[in-house]
Amino acid sequence: MSEFNMSAVRLILSCLFFRGLLALSGNFWHITDLHLDPKYKLTEKPELVCPSSGQRPAANAGKFGDYACDSPWDLINSSVYAMREILPNPDFIIWTGDDTPHVPNEDLGVEAVLQIMRNLTHTIKQVFPKTKVYPALGNHDYHPKSQLPAGPNYIYNQTAEMWQDWLDPKSQATFKKGGYYTEKLLNRTGYRMLVLNTNLYYDQNKLTLDMDDPAGQFSWADGVLKDAATNKEKVYIIGHVPPGFFEKKRSKSWFTPKFNQKYLDLIQKHHSVILGQFFGHHHTDSFRMFYNSEGSPISTMFLCPGVTPWKTTLPGVVNGGNNPGIRICEYDTQTLLVKDVVTYYLNLTRANVAGGRWEKEYRLTESFRVPDASPTSMHQALESIANNHCHLQKYYEINSVSYDLTACDSECRVDHICATREVDFNKYEDCLQKEGAATISGGLLPVLSVAIGLLLAGL
Ligand SMILES: *[C@@H]1O[C@H](CO)[C@@H](O)[C@H](O)[C@H]1NC(C)=O
Ligand SMILES: *[C@@H]1O[C@H](CO)[C@@H](O)[C@H](O)[C@H]1NC(C)=O
Ligand SMILES: *[C@@H]1O[C@H](CO)[C@@H](O)[C@H](O)[C@H]1NC(C)=O
Ligand SMILES: *[C@@H]1O[C@H](CO)[C@@H](O)[C@H](O)[C@H]1NC(C)=O
Ligand SMILES: *[C@@H]1O[C@H](CO)[C@@H](O)[C@H](O)[C@H]1NC(C)=O
Ligand SMILES: [Zn+2]
Ligand SMILES: [Zn+2]
Repeated sequence: MSEFNMSAVRLILSCLFFRGLLALSGNFWHITDLHLDPKYKLTEKPELVCPSSGQRPAANAGKFGDYACDSPWDLINSSVYAMREILPNPDFIIWTGDDTPHVPNEDLGVEAVLQIMRNLTHTIKQVFPKTKVYPALGNHDYHPKSQLPAGPNYIYNQTAEMWQDWLDPKSQATFKKGGYYTEKLLNRTGYRMLVLNTNLYYDQNKLTLDMDDPAGQFSWADGVLKDAATNKEKVYIIGHVPPGFFEKKRSKSWFTPKFNQKYLDLIQKHHSVILGQFFGHHHTDSFRMFYNSEGSPISTMFLCPGVTPWKTTLPGVVNGGNNPGIRICEYDTQTLLVKDVVTYYLNLTRANVAGGRWEKEYRLTESFRVPDASPTSMHQALESIANNHCHLQKYYEINSVSYDLTACDSECRVDHICATREVDFNKYEDCLQKEGAATISGGLLPVLSVAIGLLLAGL
């Protein structure tokens, strides 16, 4: 009898323990590249709808925007309210920058940039008053754009004030010096958020090109990650401009070569404490793999799609727009392992006709048939995208947040595979050669051998 009771108690205890394990799952929002265009307005002349179109016609302009334009206020408001409707109580929010419209510097100014940043800050705070937000600076969160200094300045000062409810006093201090900070993740011992100002490594930034370590950020981050290892902490890294290549334009990178190498070195050195990297800037949905010298996957950078649908003006990119996207990352609160990534989107064309309904676009583990979003699983996802045409096409569609549904051909495949696989500049070029050769042997060689065969037959 008492033995029976004991085993019943044990059963109940183990069930409770199991429930406890299940409850270790947490989630957070990642939003990026909101790019508010405060002057967006519906008018008869498509060229005059928004300054951010740069005179390109906004042919399908509606309440929620146009693919030629940055976000109207209604789109921003809709995205933030959609977040509250879909997941009102996330553990925290990461917000990786770029708040202002793509317009010439002359059409903005220090106060205009700060005003837009304040507007978005207040909007997020209004809708999520009790949620911890980790903001990072984008290259458009400065005037003149992309010229973020490696030392104290008025805009870092003002931004630190603007974000004072979200930042620890110590974070505000480092932020005022270099636009970066770190703090315990949710104030929990053993967990850390590292927020980088990678705009200092952007090749458009004339102020930092000749420096070895702008604002001392690399040596500071190295120290933070070293201490994290000593203190057995697990770390997420967030930032705006990512290292590596833009998947929509061959050989287009953002970092200068030496900063790209330094960033890679930092991740390779400290990967054992880094459980995820979350960046923006591309406006597209993609990811970047990091490998050790033996070729094993050691880290993944998740690139979150933008809220702005703005078609890029980068020469060589055809139809580079996207639907507005926002995403939830699901993670293990004990290990910080990223378990899944769920992206929500607004079909802009439909929204302008039928109202702003945000829908689930896809769930990473379902669409790419992987058990979680660990580096090993993401490597597996990449290999299946590289080798399974259905997965390549699925990936290509979600890359533009289901905006560009055309077929991804062999050139497109190489661009996406190599950008995802190789952050290192030389290895990326090697990948182009290797994968390009693979397409030639798959596509062109048979044609060539038939032609040679015909020639020989003719002789
Ligand atoms: C923002 O969006 C919400 C939800 O759709 C709506 O109720 C509210 O009126 C909007 N606010 C503004 C200022 O447009
Ligand atoms: C942000 O700006 C929009 C117009 O651009 C305005 O309607 C809205 O009230 C502002 N919100 C805040 C919180 O400042
Ligand atoms: C930034 O703020 C500090 C005080 O927090 C002040 O001493 C400094 O002069 C300010 N720097 C600039 C460039 O505005
Ligand atoms: C963080 O935790 C410390 C003690 O562990 C506490 O003193 C402090 O008030 C907490 N900060 C916040 C913002 O909750
Ligand atoms: C978006 O809506 C348009 C118009 O209703 C439709 O043609 C298109 O197929 C939709 N896109 C997706 C991915 O559902
Ligand atoms: Zn952007
Ligand atoms: Zn950017």
